Amino acid sequence: MESTNLVQLPNPRPRQLEEAVTAFRHRITDSGLFTDESLVRILDGHPSEFLAVSRMGSDCRKYEWSEGDLTGLGGAELLTAVRKGRLWLNVRKVTRFWPELNRLVERLYSELEQRCPEFRTSRHSANILISSPKALVYYHLDLPQNILWQVRGHKRIWVYPINERTVSSEVLESTLASERLEDLPYDPDTDAMAEVFDLASGDVVTWPQNCPHRVENAGDLNISLSTEHYTAAQLRRIRVAQANSAIRKATGLTSRSVRTDGLGYAMKYGVLLASRTSQRWIRRRQDHKLIEYPRTFRVNPSAADGVEPLDAPVAGTVGY
Ligand SMILES: [Fe+2]
Repeated sequence: MESTNLVQLPNPRPRQLEEAVTAFRHRITDSGLFTDESLVRILDGHPSEFLAVSRMGSDCRKYEWSEGDLTGLGGAELLTAVRKGRLWLNVRKVTRFWPELNRLVERLYSELEQRCPEFRTSRHSANILISSPKALVYYHLDLPQNILWQVRGHKRIWVYPINERTVSSEVLESTLASERLEDLPYDPDTDAMAEVFDLASGDVVTWPQNCPHRVENAGDLNISLSTEHYTAAQLRRIRVAQANSAIRKATGLTSRSVRTDGLGYAMKYGVLLASRTSQRWIRRRQDHKLIEYPRTFRVNPSAADGVEPLDAPVAGTVGY
């Protein structure tokens, strides 16, 4: 494997990776790191506070996202449940805990930086995403720039430009300043603006920092590697937004955003918590690098849909 390039990105333009939605190819599937056997080993050994399971509805217009409890379950049981359910398993910060994955991610960035000499990145991190057939990820944006490496299965991703219709400047700034979570109000009419990619094993797509996006899986189990990084310009952008926010709070010159558009649907659907309620629960504990959030279901590989509801939400934590 060492002698062959893992990244296949022919003739990129200068700054293309930072400034344009870009699809290319990779060769990491054959690394052996993403087989069922390897994933079970990783799931069994990964710190529980860096392992998160979520469940979602089936309509991208109705935000029904809830977090679950997987205490005591082994990797094989988790894979069984994900194959049956509508689940999204996020194995977070894998490069911190798995040297072979850290070597892989560093090599991927090294190859990208060789291909694009102006692309200089820092703060690399990576999550392995294991998601059910037909699972979806609602319309949202992420703080760092993402690169999505599709390893197994098939999914469709919509990537939207940043403009007032897709994410208002007010919401964008408050997201950059970490004043709100990264999910967004979704208007299906903006789909016409999106670039759409059908991803299969070996496909990669990346998009400029903070571009909204959403995902729908096809009918098979999906294994993806999501890598994150910052360039110097991207770090500056976040610091400016944080400074603007601090100035606004200190001077009161502009009222703070209290928008919750698009949130709160989930109360209608019984087992899932309203995300507005979740917002109240979720808080960052900077000292311990943990986020607290409510868990509303438990993974049960024997259940028809891989989960059982909890009678009452329990507090959970996840590292970041
Ligand atoms: Fe994302």
